[in-house]
Amino acid sequence: ATNRTFTMIKPDAVKNGHIGAILEQINGAGFRIVAMKYTQLSAEKAGEFYAVHKGRPFYDELVTFMSSGPIVAAILEKENAVSDFRTLIGATNPAEAAEGTIRSKYATSIGENAVHGSDSDENAAIEGSFHFAGTDIFA
Ligand code: CMP
Repeated sequence: ATNRTFTMIKPDAVKNGHIGAILEQINGAGFRIVAMKYTQLSAEKAGEFYAVHKGRPFYDELVTFMSSGPIVAAILEKENAVSDFRTLIGATNPAEAAEGTIRSKYATSIGENAVHGSDSDENAAIEGSFHFAGTDIFA
């Protein structure tokens, strides 16, 4: 069924000038943008967003990085959105990301890996509403 996922173009990809190319690849793969904003997370907000990773060795680094510069946050719509988007972006570690995936092209390391993609329908809904009000979504 047609459903939604949530993505962020992370500070590394924004700094490196890849917003346009990444959005083009997302659209080209059949995803429709139903909400989008250019914003910067405070360390507090980034910590809240990644609360499920609290206690992991990379948590502090993740929060510092994700609040280090502006990001693009968006809600995307497509059939099988969550799973198809994870295929499009590739593995978390760019060294393991399949050729042609967004992370294989634009990520620099496992931490600075260019894009986020929700890992389940449930988290897509939670993460989408973390960034957007219902009135910010145009289906
Ligand atoms: P993301 O899909 O946004 O969700 C959690 C993030 O944690 C992940 O992308 C990575 O950027 C980051 N992450 C996961 N494992 C590591 C690690 N070993 N070192 C640094 N960052 C990590």
